[in-house]
Amino acid sequence: MAVERTLSIIKPDAVGKNVIGEIITRFEKTGLSVVAAKLVQLSDQVAGGFYAEHKERPFYKDLVAFMTSGPVLVQVLEGENAVALNRELMGATNPSEAAAGTIRADFAQTIDENAVHGSDSTTSAAREIGYFFAESELCERTR
Ligand code: PPS
Repeated sequence: MAVERTLSIIKPDAVGKNVIGEIITRFEKTGLSVVAAKLVQLSDQVAGGFYAEHKERPFYKDLVAFMTSGPVLVQVLEGENAVALNRELMGATNPSEAAAGTIRADFAQTIDENAVHGSDSTTSAAREIGYFFAESELCERTR
């Protein structure tokens, strides 16, 4: 399997619950390594730009308001099959539909505040990683 990189965001609800460490432990125990990370307070402009593809959707305004409501931990995870593996660990977008033992099942209550974001493809991952990180901020781990 190919070594991939994916963008992960621990959202304001999970940061507020002090479960950053528990979430990262799940990544690390599954073979994903953190190759970049920063705790940031997103502006309306940065959060709005990140979710620009959802601009016409009814939840867009609330999503941007939520993502700017407190700090988020933006990370790049690296490992074999990282994009799909991270999505599997996260669980379904709606926590009520997330499989038992997934991050969203364990740490989120609603679809509006669902603990984590993960890139949905290697193409999205490349774009999203570039949105938050300069190439010089990505560390060498498993490569
Ligand atoms: S969907 O519903 O399958 O099209 O969702 P998706 O394209 O994966 O991403 C939608 C992002 O918006 C967040 N969000 C919501 N989605 C659906 N409905 C509601 N009410 C909603 N509120 C917020 C959702 O978590 C996705 O964000 P990320 O950061 O990718 O998880």
